Amino acid sequence: MTSGSTADLLAKYDRPGPRYTSYPTAVEFNEGFTPERYLEKLDQAAAAKEDPLSVYVHLPFCRERCSFCGCNVIITQKPGVAAAYIEDLEREVALVADRLQGRTRLAQYHWGGGTPTFLSLEEIERVWRAFSDRFTFEPGAEIAIEVDPRVTTHRQAELLKRLGFNRISMGVQDFDTEVQEAVNRYQTFQQTKDLHEHLRGLGVESINFDFIYGLPHQTPESFRKTIRLALELRPDRVAVYSYAFVPWIKAHQNAIRLEDLPAREVKHELFGIAHELFTADGYQQIGMDHFALETDSLARAARDHTLYRNFMGYTTHPARDSVGFGVSAIGDLGGAFAQNTKKLNRYRDALDSGLPPIERGFERSKDDEIRRDVIQSLMCNFFLDVRAIERAHRIDFASYFADSLRELDEGPVSSGFLTRTQDSIEVTSSGKLFVRNICMAFDAYLKRHEGEKQVFSRTV
Ligand SMILES: C[S@@+](CC[C@H](N)C(=O)[O-])C[C@H]1O[C@@H](n2cnc3c(N)ncnc32)[C@H](O)[C@@H]1O
Ligand code: SF4
Repeated sequence: MTSGSTADLLAKYDRPGPRYTSYPTAVEFNEGFTPERYLEKLDQAAAAKEDPLSVYVHLPFCRERCSFCGCNVIITQKPGVAAAYIEDLEREVALVADRLQGRTRLAQYHWGGGTPTFLSLEEIERVWRAFSDRFTFEPGAEIAIEVDPRVTTHRQAELLKRLGFNRISMGVQDFDTEVQEAVNRYQTFQQTKDLHEHLRGLGVESINFDFIYGLPHQTPESFRKTIRLALELRPDRVAVYSYAFVPWIKAHQNAIRLEDLPAREVKHELFGIAHELFTADGYQQIGMDHFALETDSLARAARDHTLYRNFMGYTTHPARDSVGFGVSAIGDLGGAFAQNTKKLNRYRDALDSGLPPIERGFERSKDDEIRRDVIQSLMCNFFLDVRAIERAHRIDFASYFADSLRELDEGPVSSGFLTRTQDSIEVTSSGKLFVRNICMAFDAYLKRHEGEKQVFSRTV
C-alpha cells in the first residue's frame, strides 16, 4: 500500500542519484585503467572470434548548442573540422580492428552524438566505410543512428537507408514554442513530421522520437499537446527523458533559469501525462523512460523480462562486449569499462603515438558483477529473479544483500514501490518512476560519495 501523499513521496525520494546507464557508474572510472591495459583487453577479446560485438561511434559535432544539452558535444561551424576528425577516427578503427584480429561480427552498431548528420554525404559514407571494410553485420543486427530533424536532409536520409541503418532516432524534446525558445532549440512540428514521413516512405524499420520532461516553461497543458502531436505521427518508440539539470558539470545549463523549471510535483505530473497518453494509445512502457508500440520487439522483450540496457539504450540484442570509438565513447570489454578522452587534441595526440585514446576506465570485481546484474534487471524489467541471481553468482541472496533488503523494506517497500518474496522482487506501477531510488539500495559506491560535492542529477 502506498503511504503518504504524492507530494510527501516526491519530497522523500527526489534526491541526487545515478541513471544507471552503467554499474558501477562513470563517476568510478579512473586513470588507473590505461591505454596499455586496454590493448591487453582487446587481445583477450580477440580470442572469442565468434562472439558478436556491439560498436558505438561518437560523432560529437553540432552547429549550435541547445541550452539543456547534457551530451558530449563540440559546437562548431568551421569547415574541415569534421573531415579532420574522420581521419583520426579511421586511424582508431584500424588500430582497434587490427588488435581484434578477425573478431568482426556486429550485433549492434550505433552512431550517436552530437549530431551524426552534421556530416556531409561524403563524410557519412567515409565513416561507414571505415567500419564496413573491417566488420560484418549479424543477421538482424541493430544499426542505429541519432539524427536532428532540423539539419537532416532527405538525401542524407536516403543515404542512411541505403547504407543499412534500420533504427533512426530523432531528437524532438518538445513541440511548444515557448519551451523551445527557453532552451535555444527551434524546431517546427513540420520539420519533424517531414523527416518522419520521408523515413517512413523509405521503409526505415524503426523510428524513435526523444522527448524531455522537466524543461523550462513546460506545463501539463503544453506537454499534453506535445504528446498528442507525437501520437499523430506514431513513431515506433519514444524516449521521455527526465531533464538532467547538472549546471555544475555542464556550465552552459546556467543559461536556464531555475525559476522557469517546473516544480517537482509538476515534473512528476508531466511524466504521468506522457504515460497516460502513450499507454492509452497502443504503447507499452519500457524501462524507466521509454515507450514502444506493443507490437515492437522491445515491448515483447519487456513482457518476457529479457530486455537489456547498455550505453546505447535498451536492446534485445545484448553482446557481451562492446567497443566505443570517437571522443568520449565508452566500451565494455572483458569485464572492464573503457572511456576515450573527451578532448579532440588529446584524441589526436594518442593516435599520433600509436595508442588507443583511452583516458579512464574501470575493471569490475565479482561484487560489481553481481550488483550490476541486479540493477540491470530492475532497471530494464522492473523485476528480479532472485533465484537466477543466486544460481548465476553462487550466492545466498538474502544474506549477501541483507543491508540492501533492510533499506528497501524501510523505504521503497513501505512506500508501495515494490513487492518482494523469497524468489523475486517486483517494482509496482507506482514504483516505476522511482526505480533509480530502488537500485540505489544495491549500489555499493553511493555511500562513499556522501558529503562530496553533487555529482548526479535528481531522481525525480
Ligand atoms: C545526441 S542527442 C540526439 C540527436 C541530436 N543531437 C538532436 O538533439 O536532435 C541525444 C538525446 O539526449 C537527450 N538529452 C540531451 N541532454 C539531456 C539532458 N540534460 N537531460 C535529459 N535528456 C537529455 C535529448 O532527448 C537528445 O535527443
Ligand atoms: S541536444 Fe542534440 S542538437 Fe542539441 S546540443 Fe545536444 S547533441 Fe546537439
